[in-house]
Amino acid sequence: MCGIVGYIGKKNAYPVILTGLRHLEYRGYDSAGIALFSDGIKVHKKKGRVSDLEKFIEGKDVSGTIGIGHTRWATHGEPSDANAHPHATENGDVAVVHNGIIENALTLRSFLQSRGHVFSSETDTEVIAHLIEEMENEKSKSFFDSVRRALNRLVGAYAIAALSVREPGTMVVAKKGSPLVIGVGEGEFFVASDAYPISEHTKKVVYLEDGEVAALTASGIVEIRTIENEKRTPRVKKIDLEIEALEKDGFDHFMQKEIFEQPCAVRDCLRGRLSVPPKKAPVLNLGGLRDVEEKLFSAERFVFLGCGTSWHAGLIGRRFFETLTRVPSIVQYASEFRYEDPLVRDTDVFVAVSQSGETADTLAAMKLAKERGATVLGVCNVVGSSVAREAHAGLYTHAGPEIGVASTKAFTTQIAALFLIAARCAEKRNALGPRRFGELLETLRGIPEKIGDVLGREERIRDIAERFGETKNAVYLGRGISFPVALEGALKLKEISYVHAEGYPAAEMKHGPIALVDENMPVVIVAPRGEHHEKIVSNAEEIRARKGKIIAVVSEGDASFDSIAEDVIEIPECDELFSPFLSVIPLQLLAYYVAALRGCDVDRPRNLAKSVTVE
Ligand code: AGP
Ligand code: GLU
Repeated sequence: MCGIVGYIGKKNAYPVILTGLRHLEYRGYDSAGIALFSDGIKVHKKKGRVSDLEKFIEGKDVSGTIGIGHTRWATHGEPSDANAHPHATENGDVAVVHNGIIENALTLRSFLQSRGHVFSSETDTEVIAHLIEEMENEKSKSFFDSVRRALNRLVGAYAIAALSVREPGTMVVAKKGSPLVIGVGEGEFFVASDAYPISEHTKKVVYLEDGEVAALTASGIVEIRTIENEKRTPRVKKIDLEIEALEKDGFDHFMQKEIFEQPCAVRDCLRGRLSVPPKKAPVLNLGGLRDVEEKLFSAERFVFLGCGTSWHAGLIGRRFFETLTRVPSIVQYASEFRYEDPLVRDTDVFVAVSQSGETADTLAAMKLAKERGATVLGVCNVVGSSVAREAHAGLYTHAGPEIGVASTKAFTTQIAALFLIAARCAEKRNALGPRRFGELLETLRGIPEKIGDVLGREERIRDIAERFGETKNAVYLGRGISFPVALEGALKLKEISYVHAEGYPAAEMKHGPIALVDENMPVVIVAPRGEHHEKIVSNAEEIRARKGKIIAVVSEGDASFDSIAEDVIEIPECDELFSPFLSVIPLQLLAYYVAALRGCDVDRPRNLAKSVTVE
């Protein structure tokens, strides 16, 4: 979950690393630090944001053309100056930055202390620096070899960059279970947890595979081996990211920008995959699934895996699949699935949903499903991410970089991609007549414009947010396909405004939660027109009878809530199956404005990070 940056080449390393850390701060921001090589290794590190580190370093020696940096999301040891990375040995001869969790850290710490090593932090990471030094003491062939042998002793996940005074011109990097990308420049190399900070310097990258270690010098990647010492050849790829995509384009926050990017993002997700030639039936072209079509079209069960918002997208994906293909489908929290010794059959098709493609639980769950014989698809946003590379096949959502910690365009493009896959399966299984198939795809093509219509109601939603005042609790309700939307709306509110919010199936309220309702409790009800619509109107009456303050999201022209709700937000009329694309937008905007009006750090909410690459 933290961000790693490294530079080795001809330029001053400090400005390159500092800029890179700023771009990666969405991955964690408890503390930040830099180690620069110039006449020995100089470490500067500080609790707080990258901007706090920059102030702390002012006036200090920041020379050196080799360096490593880190912005942390703490797992072992509270956010503090001492627990900030880089971690170095007592004499400062070895320095390391790390993303991941070392599961045998306590055992290694005891062993190293028995060998005389003195620790200065509470982190698991620090054992890596001392272990490398221990390997150096055993007369290893090179710094690279010391690192490789030290990594062999670790249990857990890591992406690391390390420096040693023994070899001033070398940086050693490695990964296993956490992301790391090497940017290949002209006589210089860049290292980062993902490709964004690298893309402004070079478009050529090498993705290390799990278990690989690389030695970098200014003149080249001198060596790549596995931790078992097997020689590997670097595979250089091209990326097409532009750094300006990371800027805010005049919006106050990345999250606000990404909410408003959704019409374009969903259009990009459909582009090249859904076409409707004039006077002809719509055509689906899902090249990413070609290798698994047989498995996909004969599947006897679909299983959706994800965490957080991606799990909510899976709940909606499941309804798409069961409605269109009539194949039994279930949704699993990846973090639960991976430990429940699950029943998996070779006729199962799993769909791992992940914006970052680096969520540790999702990655582990899909690997388990693969090991047990299932076919696994990936629906990811980050190209080249671990989930994308682990899957048998899949679709990229093409949402573009999502920097705000709270997922927004990731969600709507995930359900767009899931709908495409469901429609393709239904078409090939003859589960849908050509007319219904054509109608559904025509409706999907019109969704981006309808999302734009909802975004046009921003001011009204901001006014409602202002009336949230000092609210401390809220409830979100929905039925059927709107229930996952209620869950997503509640998650958005709690994760960026810190207001406690729960999502429930509307009919569940009378089984206990309605006891929460009083005149101080906002109740957001997601109620687009659809089957059983009158049922949710009755649920709203029950809330109203207990003085609950109702905010209703309804279809245009639906007056059912006019006498029940304090506020009614209309969304364009559409087939209920597609309503999540539209009903989630007011909930995203509501959460955004409640948080922004409270002065919360919307893009980097406390305790969170964008990509949960640790358990
Ligand atoms: C959602 O707003 C949160 N950022 C979080 O729940 C997120 O969806 C979850 O951590 C999964 O991340 P992924 O999509 O990158 O796998
Ligand atoms: N486990 C390390 C620490 O707590 C790294 C955490 C991370 O990957 O964010 O410092």
